[in-house]
Amino acid sequence: MTALASSFDAGDGDVFDLVADAIERQGYSILDGVVPLPLLDALFVQLCELPDAALNRAGIGRDQDHQLNRFVRGDETLWLDPDDAVSGGFHAWMERLRLGINRRLFLGLFDYEAHYARYAPGAFYRRHLDAFAGGGSNRVLSTVLYLNPNWGADDGGEMVLYCENDQNVIARVQPCYGRLAVFLSERFPHEVLATRRTRYSIAGWFRVNGSLGGQIDPAR
Ligand code: OGA
Ligand code: MN
Repeated sequence: MTALASSFDAGDGDVFDLVADAIERQGYSILDGVVPLPLLDALFVQLCELPDAALNRAGIGRDQDHQLNRFVRGDETLWLDPDDAVSGGFHAWMERLRLGINRRLFLGLFDYEAHYARYAPGAFYRRHLDAFAGGGSNRVLSTVLYLNPNWGADDGGEMVLYCENDQNVIARVQPCYGRLAVFLSERFPHEVLATRRTRYSIAGWFRVNGSLGGQIDPAR
């Protein structure tokens, strides 16, 4: 299950240093080429080959009430299944990133959940936060891995990261193949601008354990 990710252990420590350093310094990290290429390619193929019916219009809010609010977000998503070989390879790599970040930053990250996302031409995701203080989602660190070969400036679909308290733009991120964005979920409002091409990504969240009374906090 971990074969796709585990053959690249050698350089991972450096990668985790880079991500952790950037998060410590500025609260976010945007890096290219940190996820092993064979794993990226396998994820890309899997995502492209998903039948349309496998992806569902994303709902808004943690309770999955599926208000299909087209004014907020237009992506279609599918949760990764860690038991699948390819998704499992990704989860295994993210598990090592989780341990690497915990070792360096003591964030107490407990688990990880992720979904494939496809934005059809015209789709966007309005400005939002992935977690609110006390909001109950336990999301601490957001990740987005982009899977779009040959993305051009005219293709749209940038993720825009904003300052915590105002409209100032911190970063505009083109969804280029192999780019990994990691940022503090409660701190950075962000949006996905309307895309002109089909746009593929994997959005994921490291969470802390919100278990009470011995009940393990359920995923999602
Ligand atoms: C999300 C999200 C950003 C992106 O799924 O919550 O903000 O660039 N995605 O896909
Ligand atoms: Mn988001």
